[in-house]
Amino acid sequence: MADARTGKVTFVGAGPGAADLLTFRAARAIAEADVVIWAASLVQAEVLQHAREDAEILDSAALSLEDVVAVYERARDEGLRIARIHSGDPALWGGTQEQLDRCDALGLATEVVPGVSAFSAVAALARRELTIPEVAQSVVLTRLGGGKTPMPPGEEVREFAKHGTTMAIFLSAARSGQLVRELLEGGYPTSTPVVVAYQATWPEELVVRCTIGTLEETVKEHKLWKHTLFLVGPALEAHGTRSHLYHPGHFHGYRKADPAARRALRERGAST
Ligand SMILES: C[S@@+](CC[C@H](N)C(=O)[O-])C[C@H]1O[C@@H](n2cnc3c(N)ncnc32)[C@H](O)[C@@H]1O
Repeated sequence: MADARTGKVTFVGAGPGAADLLTFRAARAIAEADVVIWAASLVQAEVLQHAREDAEILDSAALSLEDVVAVYERARDEGLRIARIHSGDPALWGGTQEQLDRCDALGLATEVVPGVSAFSAVAALARRELTIPEVAQSVVLTRLGGGKTPMPPGEEVREFAKHGTTMAIFLSAARSGQLVRELLEGGYPTSTPVVVAYQATWPEELVVRCTIGTLEETVKEHKLWKHTLFLVGPALEAHGTRSHLYHPGHFHGYRKADPAARRALRERGAST
């Protein structure tokens, strides 16, 4: 047991589901916890194997923010270590900031352990790099407006779609018709490749490739309303380009450039 002065809340990113996508740091935070708060529907039960046998386990699905803050107050008063498990990376759509702010107000120490976000997991399953030289050098992580949380002005999918780069779209499967409309209004062609992933890294995982033109029918065919992520953009199909970093004409502190390859790169307008 921690003593009365060392109460602490660790926000633990548990990854997209599979227990072996937990980091060592995350596993350690769970193992050290007196109380583990987790979401049974978002994180696989195996992650609890890291918890102590005598740890108190609470399912966050049954708790309001006020209920969770009451547990944090107990942590401060009794010097408890809490592991608050969030799916994916706690930095994205986890409701973590409001908890961090409450902990600060309570004078309670906090730590955040990053996790594998669903968008990284889906890119890995699709075996795609999201940033391809000369095709896409940015990734927009976003969600569709119109759900429970309103979008700030200018953050609609149609606005981001104007960039034509890679998008990872969370929390939007229930409104696939609106998603397709906004992607097309932004200017993507209907043939733009899409990866749709449901419950990525869970036993019931489904990963399907389609295009924006077939996105809505794909979602409806498989009845994907939640726990689904979309990767959209030309990078999902691009081949034949190569990075300058590993080009023989590019030099850096650890490698000399081949002069002929360097000339060739320069002729293509690259700054080597
Ligand atoms: C509340 S957000 C949490 C995101 C999380 N913090 C992350 O970094 O992945 C939940 C949304 O993330 C996406 N998501 C999370 N885990 C997923 C998974 N295993 N497969 C597919 N999508 C997932 C879905 O879009 C889901 O609606």
